[in-house]
This record gives sequence, structure tokens and C-alpha cells, in this order.
Amino acid sequence: MKASTSTTTIPPAAASTTASAGTTAPGRSSRIATHSHIKGLGLTQEGSVAGDAAGFVGQEAAREACGIVVELIKSRKFSGRALLLAGAPGTGKTALALALSHELGAKVPFCPMVGSEVYSVEVKKTEVLSDVFRRAIGLRIKETKVVYEGELTELTPTETENPLSGYGKTVSHVVVGLKTVKGTKQLRLDPSIYEAILKEKIVVGDVVYIEANTGAVKRVGRSDAYASSYDLESETYVPLPKGEVHKRKELVQDITLGDLDVANARPQGGQDIMSVMGSLVRTGRTEVTEKLRREVDRVVKGYVDQGIAEVVPGVVFIDEVHMLDIECFTFLNGLLESSMAPTVIFATNRGRCTVRGTEDIVSSHGVPADLLDRCLIVKTETYTREQIGKVVQLRVAVEHLQLGPGVLDKLAEEGERTYALQLLTPASILSQLAGRKQIELEDIGEMNELFLDAKTSARRMGKDGGGGFDGGR
Ligand SMILES: Nc1ncnc2c1ncn2[C@@H]1O[C@H](COP(=O)(O)OP(=O)(O)O)[C@@H](O)[C@H]1O
Ligand SMILES: [Mg+2]
Repeated sequence: MKASTSTTTIPPAAASTTASAGTTAPGRSSRIATHSHIKGLGLTQEGSVAGDAAGFVGQEAAREACGIVVELIKSRKFSGRALLLAGAPGTGKTALALALSHELGAKVPFCPMVGSEVYSVEVKKTEVLSDVFRRAIGLRIKETKVVYEGELTELTPTETENPLSGYGKTVSHVVVGLKTVKGTKQLRLDPSIYEAILKEKIVVGDVVYIEANTGAVKRVGRSDAYASSYDLESETYVPLPKGEVHKRKELVQDITLGDLDVANARPQGGQDIMSVMGSLVRTGRTEVTEKLRREVDRVVKGYVDQGIAEVVPGVVFIDEVHMLDIECFTFLNGLLESSMAPTVIFATNRGRCTVRGTEDIVSSHGVPADLLDRCLIVKTETYTREQIGKVVQLRVAVEHLQLGPGVLDKLAEEGERTYALQLLTPASILSQLAGRKQIELEDIGEMNELFLDAKTSARRMGKDGGGGFDGGR
């Protein structure tokens, strides 16, 4: 294999992509986007619940319990253990897990997965678990680099005729204006940097820095001159940078062990056509061997010993944990014991059921007794109509939606039967299609005509005969 381990490096590219993805793997961030209103557990200094706070509504007991777990983790008394969140769907288990990881610190990796993700034809179950555990171990690397930093005041690509194709144009260079408290500077940059800027979705008014050596572009946040008056927003606002545009800056990069594994597993320096083809043929994941992981660990340990890097244990969140089988559970016991283990949170909506992969072992939540012994179990309560209304209101504010008269009450009422937030986005699409600016009662009515809730659906199937889609053959 070409993944020679002698050149274990921290590639700037890998480092900057993780930083932009917010320490969650790409594609997974969309899964936590519905929780963008959750900022933390919303506890007081003493660790008790003071009403609705940090975007969290109700669920007092579970929030306090999670607060205690945060204290245990911070005082390093939670190693070898796990938290199990049990409760009905939509009662905020994922939200609690996310809030808990927020409480641990701003840049703590949060790696969510669903139990069924371990079943794939290409990758072994234990590999999937090892991988997610390694992506939940963060590394904070400090480096001093020469950068250009400031608020973006200008972004002008210059196009020229493409001499190769005869059609179309290519960007020959891009002019970037950067502003700090002290002054402004105009830079003429390579088109590859323009691509990076587009990829990071950087627009005028964002505070960015560009590394002078590598050309890596990083978005720090939106300049606070543009701050809006909304309390709940996923945007981070930053002040206009001080000092010169061109300067030395101590950069803190957050990457994970999983990123390093993948970066070092890929054959390096392959820009020629054969290696590009090679990577096309090799479908699925790049192989990360146990040997490579040990090598990465050794290099990382060196960095930690020299004080260049700091280990930041993150959070692994395994939803629908009852979907794991006995083999996975056995493996998990080992992972929990390892010296560099992240915090592990499980969630399930099952009561007693058979442990997958066994014939007759029935256990609470489908988790074998030995693992259950390591778990602190926290139960989530179902919500009242009023609480559902509050959660819907939070989402309405974050998604910038408008509700017509009576819609909130209707949604809260529906929410007791189904999952109110699931109705919100389709209803907003319906209202847009009808050319309305806000969601009206008729949109909710139309929703109910178009979609069934689980109970009604099951009842109808039963009525149609035999109890199935095949018409009772
Ligand atoms: N107590 C709460 N306060 C605020 N938002 C909540 C609360 N409980 C749930 N939510 C929101 O409701 C939605 C569903 O909750 P989720 O955590 O996905 O439930 P579960 O994981 O238990 O199925 C999410 O958008 C979540 O952020
Ligand atoms: Mg969930």
C-alpha cells in the first residue's frame, strides 16, 4: 500500500476544511441543523434549571441530570462510562446531547451517528465505530503564521479569455480588499484562492484571513457592523481586527484524529492522471489500517509532548442504540476503556427488547446488561401543548418564518399527535407555493390532507384488509 506512514504530516488543506465544517464531518452538519436554536443546557451556576434558557424549553430533570454529567466529565470522573438518553421520539434527546457538548466547550467535536450506520457491505461494523470514536478526539494545534487578516471590503474576479477552449472565460486573478481598524490593503491573488473563497461562501462584510504561505482561506465570522437584532441566530459576529492587515498571527487549528487518519491514508502528492484514476476506481472509503492509526497516535503524542498540540476529547452520540448488535456492544466496551476515549452518549426510544444478534437475550433498551451497568440513564418527558408551542416558536424565529393567526395553536395541538416541527417546513413550502408570505391555517389543513400521521396511516392500512400494502393476499 502506498500509504507510507513515514511521512505523517498535518496537511494544511485537511486542517482548514475541518475548521470550516465546524468539527463535524461533512454531511453530518445538516443533521444537527434543526437544533441550531439550542445553545446549551441553560442551567444556573448552581446547576439547576431556571426556566427556559439557552433555547431549551422544559425538560427540567433531564437538563439537570445532563448538567451533572458535564461536571463529572470536566472533573474526569466519567471515563469508562456512558450516558443513555431514553424517551419518545421528538422529546429532545438529540438536542440534549448537543447541548451537553456545547457545555463542554466551544470547539469540542460532536460526532453523531445512528446505530444502523454500522451495517454496510464495504466496511466492517467495528471499523465504523472506531472511525467515529477517532473523529470525536479533537486536536488543538497552535502555530504562528504570516497572514492577511481583515474585513472583506472588495472581491473582484478578473476574467480573461480561456486560451485552451476558445469558449468561455477563466478567472485570471482576483482582487481582494481587506480592512482593519488601522487601515486597508488591496491584494491581487491567485484564482485558486478565489475558488477557496467561493467554497467557504465568503461574502463582502465577512472577517477572513488568508495564510501567506499556503493561500488557505479561513472565515472568522461576520463583521459585527452587520449584526442584526435577532437574538437567535446561527451566525457568529466578530469585531473588526486590530493591527495591520499583513501580520503574524497565532493560529489555532482544530482537527481530529479521524482527519489525520484519512489524510495519511490517501496516497500523497498524486496530481498526475494515474493517481486521479486510481482514486476514482477505489470507491467507498479510504482504508485506514490499525497500523496507520498507531502511527498517527505516535506522531500526535510527540506533538502533545512538545506542547504544540493539545488533545480535546469530544462527544460521540449514537442514536437508536438498540440498532447495534451484540458484536458492536462488545467492541464498545473496549472502546470505552481506552485511554483516549471521547464522552459517549446513547439514545433510544425502545423499552425492553431483544439484543440484536442474539436469539433470546432480552434487555432494557436492547442494550446488554454489562454495558447498561456502565450507563447513567436519563429519561426525557413528553411535552405539553404549551411547550410544543414554545419549541415551534423558537424554530419559527430561527428559520425566519411568519405564522398567520391561530397557526401556532393549531401546530401545538397537532404536535401532541405527531411531531409538530416536521409539519413546519412543508407547511412553509405550501404557503410559498400559494404565494403567501406567512403560513396560514389553510396550509396546515392542506398538510393534513396530503400527509397522514402514523396512527391514522396504520389504521387505514388495517381497514383496507389484511393489514398490508399487498391488499391482504
Ligand atoms: N426542550 C426543548 N427545547 C427546545 N427545543 C427542543 C426541545 N426538545 C426538542 N427540541 C427540538 O425539537 C426537535 C426534535 O427534538 P430531537 O432532539 O430531535 O428529539 P429526539 O432526538 O428525542 O427524537 C429538534 O429540532 C429539537 O431541537
Ligand atoms: Mg434524535
